[in-house]
Amino acid sequence: MEENKSILTEIYQRRSYRAISPKKIESRIVDSLMEAANYAPSCFNKQPWRYISVQSEEGLKKVQKGLNSGNSWAARAPLFILVCTQDDLDCKLDDGRHYAEFDTGMSVFSLLIQAQKEGLIGHPIAGYDQELLKNEFKIPAEVKLLTVLVLGYKGEDDALNERQLESENGPRVRNSVETWYAEEGWSL
Ligand SMILES: Cc1cc2nc3c(=O)[nH]c(=O)nc-3n(C[C@H](O)[C@H](O)[C@H](O)COP(=O)(O)O)c2cc1C
Repeated sequence: MEENKSILTEIYQRRSYRAISPKKIESRIVDSLMEAANYAPSCFNKQPWRYISVQSEEGLKKVQKGLNSGNSWAARAPLFILVCTQDDLDCKLDDGRHYAEFDTGMSVFSLLIQAQKEGLIGHPIAGYDQELLKNEFKIPAEVKLLTVLVLGYKGEDDALNERQLESENGPRVRNSVETWYAEEGWSL
């Protein structure tokens, strides 16, 4: 995709890279990520997101144990953020609209854009054993561990397989706007 100069640089430059350095991240930066996450909008300002940061050697090992084999590239990361929520923490409308995951997603994107500004890679993943990580981090049964954010500075790409290397260095792949955007009414 061509760079559109009117788009925020952080939005344009953010990518889910996988070559991550083990270099530690200052606590000032972790604080800035949480502050950015906290400014997200939410239904009735319910703020349903719940985050657990993991940086200790012991904690990192626990997360590494829960990663799917396809996400072994993430094992070097110096920081994981477990993102949790549950429907009861946010608006649940009678017509079936539940907003906890939507609002948590907005908070995550705010965090990822701040990570980009701080020079960090922030890569959300779904490929982990939810039950194992919930047990290890004492997350209550009724709470969903929606995603794990893998964070770190850009590092060597020697832990990546061929397909991952292609994606790391290749162009960004997106559907064309006409396939999901309509004007004045549904034509999709
Ligand atoms: C909810 C979610 C789950 C994801 N799970 C994984 C994953 O398990 N492993 C992985 O390598 N990337 C994962 N990704 C990253 C996506 O593959 C990536 O965001 C997508 O290909 C678009 O690329 P970009 O983020 O660089 O723009 C996930 C992203 C999201 C939002």
